[in-house]
Amino acid sequence: MDATQPEYPGADWREHAFDLTRGIAAYTSNPLIAGLARIIAKHPQADIANAFNHKQVACKMWARDKLLESSGARFGRIWILGGWYGVLAAMLFDDTRLDIDAIDSFDIDPSVAAVARTLNRPAGERFQAVTADMYALDYAAVRPDLVVNTSCEHIANVRGWLDLLPRGTQVLLQSNDYFSEPTHINCVASVGAFEEMAGLSELRFSGELPMKKYTRFMLIGTV
Ligand SMILES: C[S@@+](CC[C@H](N)C(=O)[O-])C[C@H]1O[C@@H](n2cnc3c(N)ncnc32)[C@H](O)[C@@H]1O
Repeated sequence: MDATQPEYPGADWREHAFDLTRGIAAYTSNPLIAGLARIIAKHPQADIANAFNHKQVACKMWARDKLLESSGARFGRIWILGGWYGVLAAMLFDDTRLDIDAIDSFDIDPSVAAVARTLNRPAGERFQAVTADMYALDYAAVRPDLVVNTSCEHIANVRGWLDLLPRGTQVLLQSNDYFSEPTHINCVASVGAFEEMAGLSELRFSGELPMKKYTRFMLIGTV
């Protein structure tokens, strides 16, 4: 056996994933895919395959489409809470239909900000990743144009968090009924239950996206 070959197929899967994503990035000229390749090379510990699996991507494409339909294309500053590796921010920047000045991504996990910055490097100063608890932010001081939280199933008190936002703030919220996933501490059984939990003053979109193992729910409106 060639000494340069690994002992079993897949041992060098990271190198293959890196080569493949770089190839796809070159072929498609897509900066987001180039960002995924950078993450594979620079942050081997990051669970980026989970964050960019086809279900996560479908939920975020759904968010982009319904945001555009319900709220238009133009946004100043967007805040994303529970932003994880910055995939949604990168997908919003990547969407040429949208016109966004800046996106700030907040997450309580200190290990994710560097990965989110690597992914969103092409956005330069227009992107910031901050380690912070979404319950501790001063929403009134900044008054972002849009507050996004696609991690509502991960936070204990959704209405308590929404109460921190100034009245009139535009929000996009996602949750799901994936009760069996241990990190999901606050799932909802239906989109109606999600509407009731959020208690938005104006609802511009409310809908569900059935996936194989669970249904994702989304609300777009005003606090
Ligand atoms: C698994 S991820 C995101 C899942 C979701 N489907 C998505 O992609 O939008 C949930 C994130 O919420 C973050 N998170 C949980 N509680 C938080 C809090 N109080 N403030 C900020 N981030 C929080 C976690 O650290 C994690 O990165």
